[in-house]
Amino acid sequence: MTSDLTSAPGKAAAPPPPGRHADPAAPILLFDSGVGGLTVLEEVRRVLPEAPVIYAADTAGLPYGNKTEAQVAARVAGLLGRMTERFHPRLVCIACNTASTIALGMVREVLEVPIVGTVPAIKPAAAMTRTGVIGLLGTQATIRQAYVDRLEHEFAADKRLLRHGAPGLVEAAEAKLRGEAVDPALIRHAAEALRCQPEGERIDTVVLACTHFPLVEEELAAAFGPGVRFVHGAPGIARQVARLVSGQEYSRQAPDRALFTGQGDIPDAYRAKLAQYGLLGIERI
Ligand code: DGL
Repeated sequence: MTSDLTSAPGKAAAPPPPGRHADPAAPILLFDSGVGGLTVLEEVRRVLPEAPVIYAADTAGLPYGNKTEAQVAARVAGLLGRMTERFHPRLVCIACNTASTIALGMVREVLEVPIVGTVPAIKPAAAMTRTGVIGLLGTQATIRQAYVDRLEHEFAADKRLLRHGAPGLVEAAEAKLRGEAVDPALIRHAAEALRCQPEGERIDTVVLACTHFPLVEEELAAAFGPGVRFVHGAPGIARQVARLVSGQEYSRQAPDRALFTGQGDIPDAYRAKLAQYGLLGIERI
C-alpha cells in the first residue's frame, strides 16, 4: 500500500527529462537514522534492480524520534548536504518519516537534486478502513508534526485517527536486524497503547509511520490479532523514485555500499543482513 507523495508540502520535484543524468554510475542515495530505510530499499530494488545505491544511516544520531525538530533538521540538512557534495547522487530518498515530516521542505529548498520523502500513509489507510478507526504508529517526533495534522485533515477528516509514539519499536527493529531476539513486551506495549485509547478496540487499519516498523510487522500483526491490516509508504516511495529517474542509464562500477555515522566495529551479524539487501561495502563516514 502506498502513501500519496504528491500531498507532500514544499516544492515538488519535477521529473527530469528521460535519460538526462550524465553519469550512469551516479547512485541513488537512501538516508535514514538506522536500518529502517532498508524497508524502502527493498522496494526500490524491486522496481530498479540495476540502479547503483548508497544506503546512509545516521546511527550516531539514532534515534531521531526523541530529538527536537531543530536537532533533526540540523543533522539531516548537514549530512545530506555533505553527502550530495561527495557522492553526486542522481536522487536522494529520505527513507525516514521523522526526517521527512520535519525537514523535507527545507532540504528541497537547499539541495539541487531531486528529493523523495516518506510521509505517513494516512490517505490509503483512510480508503482501506471499514470501521473508520485508524491507528498510527510513528516516532514521538513524527506523531506531533503539523505535517501529520494536515494529512489527517485532508484525507481522514471523517475518520478517527489514533496516534501513538512508539520508540520501543525502533529498538525492536534494530535488534531484529542484528539477528537478536525481539522483546515481546515492546511490541505488546505499542499495540496496547493504541487499543486502550477511546474507540481503540475498533481499529482495523494501522499506519506504520516509521520506516523501521515494517521490519516488525509480523510481530505487530500477532499482537493486534486478526482483522487488522497494516499500511506503509515504501512501495509508493519506490514508484515515485522510479518515476523521477525514468529513462536514465545505470552502470554499477563497485558494489553498493552502506555508510554509517559514528565509531566502532560493525557487527558481523549486521554485515550478513546488509548483504541480503545487496549492500556489500560497509563503511563509517
Ligand atoms: N526510521 C525513522 C522513521 O521513519 C525513525 C527512527 C528513529 O527514531 O530514529 O521515522
